[in-house]
Amino acid sequence: MTILVTGGAGFIGSNFVLDWLAQSNEPVINLDKLTYAGNLENLASLQGNPNHVFVQGDLGDRELVDRLLAEHRPRAVLNFAAESHVDRSIHGPEDFIQTNILGTFRLLESVRAYWSALPADDKAAFRFLHVSTDEVYGTLAKEDPPFAEDNRYEPNSPYSASKAASDHLVRAWHHTYGLPVLTTNCSNNYGPYHFPEKLIPLMIVNALAGKHLPVYGDGQQIRDWLYVKDHCSAIRRVLEGGRLGETYNVGGWNEKPNIEIVQRVCALLDELRPKADGTSYATQITYVTDRPGHDRRYAIDARKIERELGWKPAETFETGIRKTVEWYLANPDWVAHVQSGSYRDWVAKQYASEAPSA
Ligand code: NAD
Ligand code: DAU
Repeated sequence: MTILVTGGAGFIGSNFVLDWLAQSNEPVINLDKLTYAGNLENLASLQGNPNHVFVQGDLGDRELVDRLLAEHRPRAVLNFAAESHVDRSIHGPEDFIQTNILGTFRLLESVRAYWSALPADDKAAFRFLHVSTDEVYGTLAKEDPPFAEDNRYEPNSPYSASKAASDHLVRAWHHTYGLPVLTTNCSNNYGPYHFPEKLIPLMIVNALAGKHLPVYGDGQQIRDWLYVKDHCSAIRRVLEGGRLGETYNVGGWNEKPNIEIVQRVCALLDELRPKADGTSYATQITYVTDRPGHDRRYAIDARKIERELGWKPAETFETGIRKTVEWYLANPDWVAHVQSGSYRDWVAKQYASEAPSA
């Protein structure tokens, strides 16, 4: 048996692939375009592992995906690949439409053709799992209940609108064609290999570099934070036991205003890597112009996945954020390579030795 993962060189995808192969002998075909966000260095520990087959390519490349499906005959396809950064979607939405909407559509068509031709038993066992976000539900007021699976979709950014569209396509391919799909809508992740354009890693690397810590607006926007390994375990649970056509909200019951997150990161750095001049990293916090259309609050009601699939996060925010800060302190080379873009050279080297099958 084999699974095919798209976007497995990104933040969540690479954590998923690493965790999967640490727990199972089932091979992973990892299809990733290696945009600025894809980094094979995340998967360096898998070099030489025959159960990891990396293929550089676009999820919307029908010819390539058709060939990979025919060649490897996966029992499941997990779709992590996406343009994922809200600020980038505001500056340039086109890539988001291309990958998140058109790319998902084309992937669904490849998978549908493959799945339709499977023998009955394989067809019944096959799964398409789409990894999505809580941002499709829009924004909450302070007193609103957290997002449940039956919340209306009200996406507010080009990113969340593109993810909402992809969720609708996945849903429609189930209702119209019977494709056995599952969708997860998760809250904000954090942890190892998080690209330092996103809040938590940006604050860690800027703090250590003596730079400003830019907090948008009043810093009172609320996000619901989940350690990335807990998101990965939730996806594995949904893949194993999720009901076909259903969506599952995934979250850690960890709502926190941004400013509190930044202060906690500063306090951990003060403890683990105190500044020579004895001042706190918190002195580097700077309030800057707000993100346009900034959603005020996200919160996830995770009771469905807890009740139906027995999933619960293993980390609290305190344990997860400490592990995260420790990981960045222990991996300055990873940060330096990402910041200098030199991981692209590393990729070229990696390719030369890995002989990818595409
Ligand atoms: P990321 O930006 O770190 O990684 C995305 C990966 O997809 C990269 O490796 C990139 O090279 C690849 N990719 C982009 N376009 C591609 C294309 N056209 N074809 C093939 N590969 C392509 O993103 P992430 O944070 O790991 O998010 C992964 C998924 O999880 C996304 O679908 C995102 O919407 C969703 N999600 C993310 C979060 C979060 O907090 N990061 C929370 C909930 C859901
Ligand atoms: O909710 C899930 C989503 O979480 C995912 O679908 C997205 O892919 C992921 O990027 C993330 O989106 P956010 O916009 O919530 O994440 P980001 O890290 O960009 O920002 C988190 C919060 O911090 C948000 O309220 C904006 C704020 N922020 C962010 C940056 C980068 C700042 O105040 N300063 C910053 O410099």
